[in-house]
Amino acid sequence: MTILGIETSCDETAAAIVTRTEGGAASREPDIVAQAACLVNIVRSQWSAHAPYGGVVPEIAARAHCEVLDRIIADAMTSASISADDIDAVAVTAGPGLIGGLIVGITTATMLGLAWDKPVIGINHLEGHALTVGLSNQLAPPYLLLLVSGGHSQIVLVEAVGLYRRVGTTVDDALGEAFDKTAKILGLPQPGGPAVEAAARLGDAARFKFPRPMLGRPEPNFSFAGLKTAVRQQAQKLAPLSDQDVADLCAGFQAAVAETLVDRMRTALRDVVTTTSPADVPERQLPMVIAGGVAANKVLRAALVDLAARDDRQVHLPPLSLCGDNAAMIAWAAAERLAAGLDNPQPIVARPRWPLDEISAPVVGHGRKGAKV
Ligand code: KG4
Ligand code: ZN
Repeated sequence: MTILGIETSCDETAAAIVTRTEGGAASREPDIVAQAACLVNIVRSQWSAHAPYGGVVPEIAARAHCEVLDRIIADAMTSASISADDIDAVAVTAGPGLIGGLIVGITTATMLGLAWDKPVIGINHLEGHALTVGLSNQLAPPYLLLLVSGGHSQIVLVEAVGLYRRVGTTVDDALGEAFDKTAKILGLPQPGGPAVEAAARLGDAARFKFPRPMLGRPEPNFSFAGLKTAVRQQAQKLAPLSDQDVADLCAGFQAAVAETLVDRMRTALRDVVTTTSPADVPERQLPMVIAGGVAANKVLRAALVDLAARDDRQVHLPPLSLCGDNAAMIAWAAAERLAAGLDNPQPIVARPRWPLDEISAPVVGHGRKGAKV
């Protein structure tokens, strides 16, 4: 099947065309991996429009999506050399995210569905991140997912397409938010993650010993607010900051994050074994996956590869182009849901808050999408 995907939940306007052939995650024969192909994946960042304000401004985001979305969809179809007749369904992010952007995407997708007489599928953005490795690495569930982005930090047991159990979450900031705020404190440009990573390359991670939040705690949750505050306090002590100070602060921050993530994933794996490890997958074989914008960070990727190597576990990392927000993951999640015969509630309603695991109770103060400013 061929799916047109649309993503407008935050500050990237994206359209993509993805194909899926039978087998894989949704089939009764998990050994037969679905054939996935991403024909085109266009992502237009709005960052320059938000830069003067130091964060994403929802109204500006919605308008910017409106201005470019139809052109981006047309470009995607031209690049893939396909017409409406070749498309089986239109997939669109229905949440979580900024309400204005979601409405732009949903309205556009609904209109295309009507004009082309094709089904329209509303997708949870987090499910897009969660299933990306099916598209990029041909990996079917079950796996343990570390989902780290600008609005979310969670450890999720992906048991099957449509079946997600949250094992851990942040009790305050999302990790991407912590990177963005750290960059702001240090006078680096936004989005902060890539800026902090680049500065850290020239830094000495041992110069500052920042706290490792939640290290050793029995529940695999995260907390990043204290770490960010520690960076701020150190920066205030040193001000004015030299380039070397900034590099060392970034390297110290990143090292603290890496050590924390490894500890939390190790705890989550232990938790999964003692609770609901899928019966047919011995825990030691449960692959680890990282997804979301922060998954592009090479130091964090290396830390997880190292953790996996320690007990001979598989680890799957999507390519950098599929870590940040994109529409290929939305199209792919829709393809997987269709193949699995999952329901497709209509009409599609924008859901600014939409947990991936709707059963686990929310944790007080956890990071929320749209809190980037
Ligand atoms: O998944 P994403 O594109 O959007 C959301 O769904 O939130 O994630 C964006 C977040 C931003 O906070 C950005 O600073 C962070 O991902 N990010 C990174 C890197 N690249 C993007 N964080 C750390 N290192 C990176 N290389
Ligand atoms: Zn995202």
